[in-house]
Amino acid sequence: MSKEMEEVLRMEGVRSGYGEMEILRGLDLHVYRGECVVLIGPNGAGKSTILKGLMGIANIFGGRISLEGVSLEGLRTEEIVRKGVSYVPQVKNVFPHMSVEENLEMGGYIFEGSLVERMEGVYEMFPELREKRRSDAWTLSGGQRQMLAMGKALMVDPGLLLLDEPSAGVSPLNRGIIFESVERIKGTGVSILMVEQNVREGLGCADRGYVIVDGKVRYEGRGEDLLGMEDLGEIFFGVVE
Ligand SMILES: Nc1ncnc2c1ncn2[C@@H]1O[C@H](COP(=O)(O)OP(=O)(O)O)[C@@H](O)[C@H]1O
Ligand SMILES: [Mg+2]
Repeated sequence: MSKEMEEVLRMEGVRSGYGEMEILRGLDLHVYRGECVVLIGPNGAGKSTILKGLMGIANIFGGRISLEGVSLEGLRTEEIVRKGVSYVPQVKNVFPHMSVEENLEMGGYIFEGSLVERMEGVYEMFPELREKRRSDAWTLSGGQRQMLAMGKALMVDPGLLLLDEPSAGVSPLNRGIIFESVERIKGTGVSILMVEQNVREGLGCADRGYVIVDGKVRYEGRGEDLLGMEDLGEIFFGVVE
């Protein structure tokens, strides 16, 4: 198998949910090294649950999740982060009453290397954050807040980054910046699994996508192929612009 086709992540027959309620009902997906993979599908389909199951936040009832070929079974969230997976939730992804710099420090709390160097890397990727480093996170624009959330997740130097709707709450004008940021992160060799409601832009920057319906994969394909499918109408996709 060529190096670029190595699987960073594999989920097989995963059943996951909350309490005893099963939301994911046999989910199969994978992410190859260096890929950006996008999850789309209607509201309530289980897209966020995929990321939460992976992070050990949602309950796992069955199936197998492996990272670099090694099962994540039974690991706590922090142990999963230590294995190189970092997660940006859709909401509450920054500490509003802490400065940008303090948020980044919190993001790197389990990072064992130099926090100063990591932070410098984040500032190089998002120069706007450097300018705002002393400002409280609540004063940032929607776009800057998402940059901070991503920057915070990058503080642990992850191999796989999970993003839950990074363009949510960002004005249409600034969304481009978010997707450019995602591409820049990908350019540094980080593999990305991202949920996105802005289907056209999300699939536009993805190598592959999965359409999730009712806790399962309905379609899988290259971004452009999924966009071209005629039976994937508005209901399926949520927002199609
Ligand atoms: N913490 C939770 N407790 C109970 N049910 C939840 C919780 N989070 C999500 N759900 C339910 O799980 C289903 C899938 O949710 P979610 O994965 O957030 O969907 P999506 O991200 O595709 O919109 C929904 O029916 C939702 O109400
Ligand atoms: Mg969601």
